[in-house]
Amino acid sequence: MSGDTQSSVTKINPLRGEILIPGDKSITHRAIILSALAQGPSRILGYLPSEDCEATLRAFKTMGIRISSESEGGIPCLVVHGKGLQGLAEPENVIDCGNSGTTMRLMTGLLSAQPFFSVLTGDASLRLRPMARVMKPIREMGGEIHARANGNKAPLAISGTALSPIEYKLPIASAQVKSAILLAGLRVSGTTTVIEPGPCRDHTERMFQSFGISFKKEGNALSVSGGADFAGRTIEVPGDISSAAFFLVAGSIIPGSEIKLCNVGVNPTRAAVLNILKKMGADIDLALRKTTGNEPVADLKVRAAPLKGCVVEGALMTAALDEFPILCIAAARAEGRTVFREAAELRVKESDRIEMMASALSGMGIAVETFPDGMAITGNPKWKGVFCKTAGDHRIAMSLVIAGLLAEGGNQIDDMACIKTSFPDFMNLLLGLTKPG
Ligand code: S3P
Repeated sequence: MSGDTQSSVTKINPLRGEILIPGDKSITHRAIILSALAQGPSRILGYLPSEDCEATLRAFKTMGIRISSESEGGIPCLVVHGKGLQGLAEPENVIDCGNSGTTMRLMTGLLSAQPFFSVLTGDASLRLRPMARVMKPIREMGGEIHARANGNKAPLAISGTALSPIEYKLPIASAQVKSAILLAGLRVSGTTTVIEPGPCRDHTERMFQSFGISFKKEGNALSVSGGADFAGRTIEVPGDISSAAFFLVAGSIIPGSEIKLCNVGVNPTRAAVLNILKKMGADIDLALRKTTGNEPVADLKVRAAPLKGCVVEGALMTAALDEFPILCIAAARAEGRTVFREAAELRVKESDRIEMMASALSGMGIAVETFPDGMAITGNPKWKGVFCKTAGDHRIAMSLVIAGLLAEGGNQIDDMACIKTSFPDFMNLLLGLTKPG
């Protein structure tokens, strides 16, 4: 993780105004990948220019794909000159995925089916994250991957080869693992099927359909028939609801706030954060927009409202794992106790997010109790500002910035640079909303 800048954040003006939420990170990764594999140029409108997405972009550049960025009326746009399913060239060097788990896991599937050798590595956080979950199904397809730590951690060395189709039952709902298998399946002759234990983000499937790839969903079974080339196209990337979540919570807990978040992707597999905040009493209105893409998009209006504690578990928790750090801040402000359960996966995200949030919140004087699979937080309206450690985790940093707006004396954040992983414009947008006005 780059940089270790410290920043102190204190400001208690109500948030007012309207902002355009930057592009969705998950969709941007997939748009770059599928555009590079398509025949001919694709335009990716509203892509997210963040460090994670740049890792995916760089990977394809090193495999011979020409990619340029431009701006269309202030909206960032990528032009990717895809060379078809057979068009990638062997990378001359190790591919550095930076902090991006999505880049590493999706590329593991994709590269395993390419006729060349490649090595994937990442920063210190990514090299600690479990990779066996993606290597297992790919090996069942005939993939040849080697990794350190008993075959579980990057660097990963991939000897690409012709893979065979499988039917794979996912043991955990993971969009990264299912996408890795489906991407590998693009070059496999025959039908590759993934069976999901429950719904998780479905951007890969939606984008397969947009590109006209031979894909079928029957109940929990997702099948792709590989081998056929597909043409480049224009993709519109909606705003990232995981980024919007920081403002949904800030707007709910900072007294007097009233803000509008425009162009937010509200795909039902991503919108659990809205349901959780509404369950807590948040005042959020949603107005759907007309779009040309295959993803639902809305403008969200949020007004400050008193929140109350609730229990978040099961499918609701699974679908809001990325929003856990900022939901902890909502819980810390809510009346009563909020319990997050069935979220053990949080321990192997960009950091151990249960530990990181528990330690920051208890420093701020908020009562927390941790469990192996979650945390309980008892709301408290009086917070003291503290020095916060982020472990280079972008979502921990942004959550503690928002908390600092209400903590006495403000929070000091040890690493603000990590925010560029997913949301480079976060501070600018936040400061724009805090102007007295
Ligand atoms: C992502 C999938 C999720 C999510 C991550 C992005 C994706 O991870 O937490 O931030 O883009 O596919 P899992 O696949 O581990 O659930």
